[in-house]
Amino acid sequence: MKLIAYRMVVTLILHALGFWDIRGIRCCQTDTSLYFIDDHNIKCTALDSLDQSNPTFQTVVPNIVEGTAIDVDVRNGMVYWSDTQAWTINRMNLTSREVKVIIKENIGEVYSMAVEWESGLIYWTDFIYERIEVANVDGSSRRTLVTQNVKSPVELQLIQKMG
Ligand SMILES: *[C@@H]1O[C@H](CO)[C@@H](O)[C@H](O)[C@H]1NC(C)=O
Repeated sequence: MKLIAYRMVVTLILHALGFWDIRGIRCCQTDTSLYFIDDHNIKCTALDSLDQSNPTFQTVVPNIVEGTAIDVDVRNGMVYWSDTQAWTINRMNLTSREVKVIIKENIGEVYSMAVEWESGLIYWTDFIYERIEVANVDGSSRRTLVTQNVKSPVELQLIQKMG
């Protein structure tokens, strides 16, 4: 509930700033940046700049076909996103800017994903195949976690233990 309310506020602010086609808003726990997909780009802004009159936005990943879900691993400086027209899950190293396709076979529409940096795993939901999958963050050791009672999933959150 809290998360949904927060997202609505951020979405309204971004709308007010002229960003209309927004997806995959992600806020990072150990970073003050807000990442989101605006049309065909992943953009980033400092959270505390949003209440200023002239917030600045940086394009992190340009030229995405149909970016849909994102997650950011601040600890390792990596951003992950799904593309529902290229049918891929991709990642970019924020330091070297190197982009890699990590999942491209047997993939439907991925509307949400979550990266767990501690275990080096990425989880995602597949709307078409109706399942939740997991793989190493480089795309290896991919496996299906849940297929039973998963009807066109669009949202996924990981609960991480403290300390
Ligand atoms: C990202 O790129 C930098 C510079 O090439 C490299 O030192 C770092 O290990 C890379 N990060 C990951 C998580 O691969």
